[in-house]
Formats: sequence, structure tokens, C-alpha cells
Amino acid sequence: MNIDVFTLFPESFDWFVTQRHVSNVLAAGSRLQCVNPRAHTPLSGGQVDDTPFGGGAGMVLRVDVLDCALRARYGIDPVDVRAQRRVIALAPGGRQLDEQLVQELAGERELTLLCGRYEGFDERILEHFASDVVSIGRYVLSGGELAAMVLCDAVLRKLPGALGDERSAAEESFSVALDGDPEYPHYTRPAEYRGWRVPDVLLSGHHEQIARWRRERSRERGAAARGRAEADARRAGAAERG
Ligand code: 6GU
Repeated sequence: MNIDVFTLFPESFDWFVTQRHVSNVLAAGSRLQCVNPRAHTPLSGGQVDDTPFGGGAGMVLRVDVLDCALRARYGIDPVDVRAQRRVIALAPGGRQLDEQLVQELAGERELTLLCGRYEGFDERILEHFASDVVSIGRYVLSGGELAAMVLCDAVLRKLPGALGDERSAAEESFSVALDGDPEYPHYTRPAEYRGWRVPDVLLSGHHEQIARWRRERSRERGAAARGRAEADARRAGAAERG
């Protein structure tokens, strides 16, 4: 997979690409490259953002700057890029990233990520250049970089060779093998610590019983998570109705 990240802070990805599962997939032929819109700005003094029309705090990433940066990278009108590859703008108002979207993106050959800064993007960037707007949760970050790294982390670990042991991905939280439920609890040595014992079944050597126990714990966690989500939705609904 080839991922281009448009960011004003490319150095913030330096640490990320050294992470084992990321460096594994990069060594296996995938690519993660940063493009700094500042290097392509048509404005003087390296300007990339501006104050919002209508007033308000913060700065907004300019549409003309991103137009030039995308054009420099792909050699075509940026409005046509999203027909060739998904162009994902990271912004708090977007579609929330979840396991289904991660799976979907893991199937792409090419991805473009756009990181906003300050107050975010001029809306015309989202309207005309992006194919998707993605958020990683209902809270506000100071920029899209951390969100882009979260997305890349979740997507890249799906690729062959990312994890040392391919079984890790098959039976992890939210996987098909677990019917979309979270993962069961794990334990390792010591079998007892400060009186806290590892469940006997895991020490029993009965593979069938262990599998059944894990499936049950995974289901319990899924039910608990659904309960929390329903409570959250009820609270949000109540807040909306006043
Ligand atoms: Cl994608 N960007 C920003 N700035 N804040 C966020 C986010 C993205 N997702 C959640 N909060």
C-alpha cells in the first residue's frame, strides 16, 4: 500500500515509521510518504493558512495551497485525484473510524491523507478534493497528524507481514473470528501474583474449554460495550431534546 500524508509537520511521523509493525510493512514494499504543503505554497513567506472569513479564532488551511500541493504530487487537477485514490481529510466532524472502515481502507492500494491544522480546512478542500472525511472520535485534537497516525496504525497492521504472528490479527478485538466482539482477557506468568490468580481453565491445557471460555468472555465484553453505547446514545438523545 502507498500512503501519502499531506502535513505541515512531516517530522511528527518520524517516530511513527520506526514502530515495528509499521517498519515491517514498509520493508515488505509498502510506502508512507509525507508531503508538506508549505513546500508548494504559491504564497509568499511560506504562508499556508489564513484567518476565517466572518471572524473567529484560529487559522484555516487555504484551498489554493492544498490545490498546488496535490497538483505537484499527482500532476493532475486535484478534483480528479479522488477518482483514482481515496483522499481522506482528517477532521473531527467526519465519519468515525471503526473496524469496518479500517478493513475497507486496508483493501486500498493507494491512500492520501490530508491533515488540517489550527481550525482545520477551508471547507472547499473537503468539498472538492476529499473523497472522505474521517474523525477518530468525538473530541477535538489540535491537528490531524495524530488522527492520521491512528488511522495508519490501524490500517497497516492489517497488512501481511505487519505482525510477527499472523494469528494475532485473526483473533483480535472486533475481528470476524470473534463476531465483532472485543478480545478476551489475556494472562501470563506468574500464575498467581499478590493473591490474584489466573483463571484455572487457562492453566488446564483443555484447548476446547479454553476456546469456549475465551468466546464467552469476548461475548460478555461485547454485550457490555453495546450497553455502554446504548446508554451514550440515550444520553445524547436526551441532551438534544433538552
Ligand atoms: Cl481527524 N482531527 C482533529 N483535529 N480532531 C479530531 C479528529 C481529527 N478526530 C477526533 N478529533
